[in-house]
Amino acid sequence: MDRIAYKDGRLQVEGVDLEALAESVGTPLYVYSASSILARYRALREAFADLDPGIRYAVKANSNGAILKMLHREGCGFDLVSGGELERVLRVGADPQTLAFAGVGKQDWEIILALETGIGLFTVESEAEVDLLESLAGAAGRRARVAIRLNPDVDPKTHEYISTGKKENKFGLAFDRAAVMIPRIQESAWLDLKAYHVHLGSLLLEPDPFLEAVERILTFVDEDPIRSDGIEAYDMGGGFGIRDVFEDPLDLSVLAAGMSRLLGPRAWKLLLEPGRYLLGNAGLLLSRVLYRKPGFEKDYLVVDASMSELIRPALYSAEHRVLAVTENGTPDPRPVDVVGPVCESSDFLAKDRLLPRLDRGDLLAVADSGAYGFTMASNYNTRPLPAEVLCREGQATLIRRREELPDLWRNEVTEGIDLA
Ligand code: LLP
Repeated sequence: MDRIAYKDGRLQVEGVDLEALAESVGTPLYVYSASSILARYRALREAFADLDPGIRYAVKANSNGAILKMLHREGCGFDLVSGGELERVLRVGADPQTLAFAGVGKQDWEIILALETGIGLFTVESEAEVDLLESLAGAAGRRARVAIRLNPDVDPKTHEYISTGKKENKFGLAFDRAAVMIPRIQESAWLDLKAYHVHLGSLLLEPDPFLEAVERILTFVDEDPIRSDGIEAYDMGGGFGIRDVFEDPLDLSVLAAGMSRLLGPRAWKLLLEPGRYLLGNAGLLLSRVLYRKPGFEKDYLVVDASMSELIRPALYSAEHRVLAVTENGTPDPRPVDVVGPVCESSDFLAKDRLLPRLDRGDLLAVADSGAYGFTMASNYNTRPLPAEVLCREGQATLIRRREELPDLWRNEVTEGIDLA
């Protein structure tokens, strides 16, 4: 991605020098390229232009308000999975019509808030949830627009922890259950069935699973004409895969052509819920080397970022590319593990890498961490959450201050409060 590139041997994000940024804001630090995010958003919209696409950015990938605001200004809607995410997008002025609320475990207060907001779509995925939504909608005197999330039992060929559309996953309704739910929703006084939804999983790099899913779903829908009554949209979920920062992501042209062929004859809107596709390659985690530690078989680069800031390598064995911020020639022949200060052997950011020789004080960047980086960060080992900076055309903007230590114990009650 050319907006994250070396210039005169130094790594820059949209022309912002990372060495200078680290000096002024400190590390560990998340740095994002605004233009990269916007370019991906536009590429997605253009690829699916035939199908009147409605893009609902998956807020869980990166929920910083500055990023949400930027996407909202482009006309982007949002895919939400909690009342907290709903409040976040309302703060940046999102249009309720462009909001879709997914998730297997919506709580009463979250449903009530979403009903009062008048959101565009509730994705439902169990009988119990439909019963609750109906009764809360009746109590609030607000009709709910509903999508049924189907589980088409399609293998997305991704890591098992981020697969969601197979029959062993907790997500979605099997076709036989959906067959019973459809008339149940259509007959409800408070629910309007408007869409079918599917989300197969994350990091899909081939178009086939998306197409197989829509084929199975259309076959199911066409088995009974009532299943098309009132339907306005097909929500294909997210999961559009990315590769390394310097490589192309999932080729959208084959996928878009396939979707047009299958959905074109129906006057349905296409909804897409990208998260990682927009943010993943656009962000990096900047970190400074604390120590170089020779080990038995390899060296360890102990850096000031850890699994607390980026848990993906520990959780999914994700392989993020590591970039030396200052290019200094040929790789060192001895492999290194890039590890953090946290007391766990799973606290690594990269393993067995051949990197340029790096030592104490040098900076490195863990690439492709704009999605599910900050949002999955924790305070483990009493580490403050990192700061975030958004770069655009040479300008760096602080979009989150670094957390301070007192923030970490603000809600603790050291003396304790006896409960009645
Ligand atoms: N829509 C729904 C209903 C979802 O559950 C998700 C992600 C998305 C859209 C966006 O998926 P994306 O386009 O970002 O792949 N923490 C994991 C990824 C978990 C994804 C959860 N659901 C990771 O770091 O790989």
